[in-house]
Amino acid sequence: MHDKNKSLKDLDKQSLIHPYTNLAAHQQSGPLVIERGDGIHVIDENGKSYIEGLAGLWSTSLGFSEPELAAAAAKQLEKLPAYHSFNGMATRPMIELADRLKDMVPISDGRVFFANSGSEINDTVVKLIWYANNILGCPEKKKIITRERSYHGVTVATASMTGLTACHDGFDLPLDRFLKCMCPDYYREGLPGESEEQFSERCADDLRTLIEREGANTIAAFYADPVIAGGGVVPPPAGYFERVQKILRENQILFVADEVICGFGRTGRVFACDTYDLRPDVITVAKALSSAYLPISAAVVAPAIWEPLITGSERYGPFAHGFTYSGHPVSAAVALRTLEIYEERSIFQHVQSVAAHFAKRIDSFAGHPMVGDVRRIGLLGGIEFSPNPATKAQFDKSLGVGAFCSQQCRNHGLIVRNIGDIVAFCPPLIISELEIDEMFRRFETALAETWEMVRANA
Ligand SMILES: Cc1ncc(COP(=O)(O)O)c(C=O)c1O
Repeated sequence: MHDKNKSLKDLDKQSLIHPYTNLAAHQQSGPLVIERGDGIHVIDENGKSYIEGLAGLWSTSLGFSEPELAAAAAKQLEKLPAYHSFNGMATRPMIELADRLKDMVPISDGRVFFANSGSEINDTVVKLIWYANNILGCPEKKKIITRERSYHGVTVATASMTGLTACHDGFDLPLDRFLKCMCPDYYREGLPGESEEQFSERCADDLRTLIEREGANTIAAFYADPVIAGGGVVPPPAGYFERVQKILRENQILFVADEVICGFGRTGRVFACDTYDLRPDVITVAKALSSAYLPISAAVVAPAIWEPLITGSERYGPFAHGFTYSGHPVSAAVALRTLEIYEERSIFQHVQSVAAHFAKRIDSFAGHPMVGDVRRIGLLGGIEFSPNPATKAQFDKSLGVGAFCSQQCRNHGLIVRNIGDIVAFCPPLIISELEIDEMFRRFETALAETWEMVRANA
């Protein structure tokens, strides 16, 4: 029975299992309840306003109060609130969205499959590739390579692809068939005196060695989030993808670009594939596809993959994969309107124009005595803490420096994400230069308090 006398916080603790939350600590701390949004801000149940420095979960590109998206959803809800796409059924928004998406990506003659989340769509792509390889007579070519610290989701397959041990520990994962190569984090993994290009060469060697060890004939695909975001904001080092793509081509291994965070302007171009000159066989998108207003994700796949699927129906019968909500008409209508707004308001050009200011502001923290590294591209940035930037030493984990800083940010009205001792910034794409200033002003105050805490504990 709903008890009206209980606070939302108490009801939360007594009724929910939160995703990605320390469930033991949550029993004490309870939730931060967000009630409404306004531009780049969200407002909690007590009326306190926060700049959403991570755009929710790296996703709410158009901010938290875009009336056009609410209107697009309402219009579709009134016309046809739900329908499916099994057995050849379709709806107008779904078809129009697929048509638009396939024209946006750097894949020629692609076909689009819809799902509801990044995890589902990445999981789907693994299945499409396995299925295609069976049809193509390569049943042994099934292994999937991803990078340490990459993030691709949490389903059984995609958690196996994700290169973060937290997603494996206690879950009996990863499954075999899922292999890892080196994380291209030049700051953490680069050797003393090693140039960025030399480091990229070493990463490429690591990939080549893995392929040789396993046998190219057993490896189906290499999967990369072009900028590793959830694993600590790691843009690719110079020359990295050039070398990787060459190895993949030589070994006939498919390349999947997971653009779930990078897609739709985050790196300054429409896709990170444009920013880094990538030529993938598959692109997966989610999050900013609908500004995260409704759940929807998609994969655009090259003919090398979709053509065998058609043959597959002759061998196996109807293609037996799909979700009740694949291409849901309301989500698709909102996504379609989101893509129109990107164009009408020149959102990607806006990102390019404010990215220089974002860069200037975030780079200004580079000289701080506890900042080891600053990384950024477009409107995506990360600041890595170190007790001794000269040696790149790492803080004792028990000190919880990143978590402390993140909490201080919150106290000052800024939501950011700490990934260990790395603080990530990924604001809504509509952020203005003045708002960027305010975001970093709040961070600066939190950083000063964190530095004070560190010195008090030294
Ligand atoms: C690059 C990348 N791929 C996939 C996912 C999984 O998306 P979802 O949380 O919607 O399942 C994420 C989530 O943050 C992501 O960052």
